[in-house]
Amino acid sequence: MIQPGPLHIKNLKVDPPLILAPMCGLSHTVLRQLILEYTGCGLFYSEMLSARALPLESPDSSPWLRTTDRERPLIYQLLVSHPTELAAAIEKIESCGGDGLDLNMGCTTALITKRGGGIALMKDPKRAEAIVSTSRSATDLPLTAKIRLGWTLDWGTLKEFCSMLQDTGVDAISIHPRLRQDRLKRPARWEYIGRIKELLDIPIIGNGDVDSPESAMRMFKLTGCDAVMIGRAAIGRPWLFRQIAASIWPQSYPVTLPVPSEAFNRFVSLLESCFEPEYALPLLKKFTFYFAQNYAFGHTLWRLVHNASSLAKAAALANDFFSTQTVTG
Ligand SMILES: Cc1cc2nc3c(=O)[nH]c(=O)nc-3n(C[C@H](O)[C@H](O)[C@H](O)COP(=O)(O)O)c2cc1C
Repeated sequence: MIQPGPLHIKNLKVDPPLILAPMCGLSHTVLRQLILEYTGCGLFYSEMLSARALPLESPDSSPWLRTTDRERPLIYQLLVSHPTELAAAIEKIESCGGDGLDLNMGCTTALITKRGGGIALMKDPKRAEAIVSTSRSATDLPLTAKIRLGWTLDWGTLKEFCSMLQDTGVDAISIHPRLRQDRLKRPARWEYIGRIKELLDIPIIGNGDVDSPESAMRMFKLTGCDAVMIGRAAIGRPWLFRQIAASIWPQSYPVTLPVPSEAFNRFVSLLESCFEPEYALPLLKKFTFYFAQNYAFGHTLWRLVHNASSLAKAAALANDFFSTQTVTG
């Protein structure tokens, strides 16, 4: 059995090479703290942060920048459409102690692509190149880019785009191998992770549809990627990194048996201590959408939390639900 080793992104060591994906409204301090309690995640990405708005945010008041010293390493992801937006945003990331900077080149939301951000950059390689080269000149921090396959499936264009990223100074690429119109539908085309890995010298982070130790190992084996990045499955099961680590590196990560209701209650208490009530309740609702999938009647849990008017009421209703349910496994 192959045992993937630590990933090095420039001078940043990622050990184990298992990574939390950037997810808007989900990859925040509370999810990171919960994942840390289970261990097994070697690198966190923040949710996407607007390069234009970021300079005005303060880590003390901004829910998006809130973090603790333990949530490391942490790479901040920037949503950027023009090189002029970068200087102040990168300065802010450095002042917040970020361990790296990621450029979002994969977001498919229409509002964002219309403004030239996210996957719109894959259609405009000259502007993408200018953004990478300005970022590279502005910071010595590890610089990564997160891409999709593009707007249409065209290996020649994709190959050129990835080579441009490497040649312009990107230190690692995360690949979510879906097209723009795929959104999150149809299976991720992992074969493209392998093809890009063969093409480039910099580390490649594979992403898309990993939801178990078996699928993580399959992605490592089939694509040769240097690290696996996990999004949705890690929200519902914050212990997933630990389970994957325990199956690949059992000598370092003994097996644990998570109790989902305990994870939910811990999430609620971290939300209470980290966020004001007006932020905490919507964040619990977003989390519960994914967490509910642990239960056969998860839609009931989702509805109860979704309709609750306070965090305390949501937690009470959820605990009534847990007392009558079994976990689907
Ligand atoms: C609710 C949600 C929010 C997301 N927000 C971001 C984001 O801010 N930046 C980004 O690059 N990708 C974002 N993504 C995409 C994920 O990072 C990831 O590429 C995608 O979910 C596929 O991985 P998975 O199958 O492990 O979930 C988001 C995905 C979801 C479901």
